[in-house]
Amino acid sequence: MEVENEIKYFPVAGEDEIAPGERIFVDINNDPVVIFRVGDVFYAIKDMCTHDRGPLGDGDLDGFEVVCPRHGARFDIRTGKATRLPAVRDTVMYPVRVNDGQVEIGLAE
Ligand code: FES
Repeated sequence: MEVENEIKYFPVAGEDEIAPGERIFVDINNDPVVIFRVGDVFYAIKDMCTHDRGPLGDGDLDGFEVVCPRHGARFDIRTGKATRLPAVRDTVMYPVRVNDGQVEIGLAE
């Protein structure tokens, strides 16, 4: 584990375990997190819609936006930003890096 700018990174999966276009689900400190792979880049956001706690990771991906399956709010998976109503609050975005073949999620100290 390495500390970088007050962020600690934790390995969550092998890079090869997430195919391009796929996603995986993990729990980080009891928070549900979904990790998307778009091409060769990984993005992680909290797996919970800020509108009414819908499971964001079950939604379709449209470019870099995930569509909440419950009422259609959208979030940018690169930033966590809410981009369409009925969600008005951003969701949590986690930094992700690949280190020695491992996908790692960053948590603030
Ligand atoms: S719970 Fe996601 S749009 Fe309502």
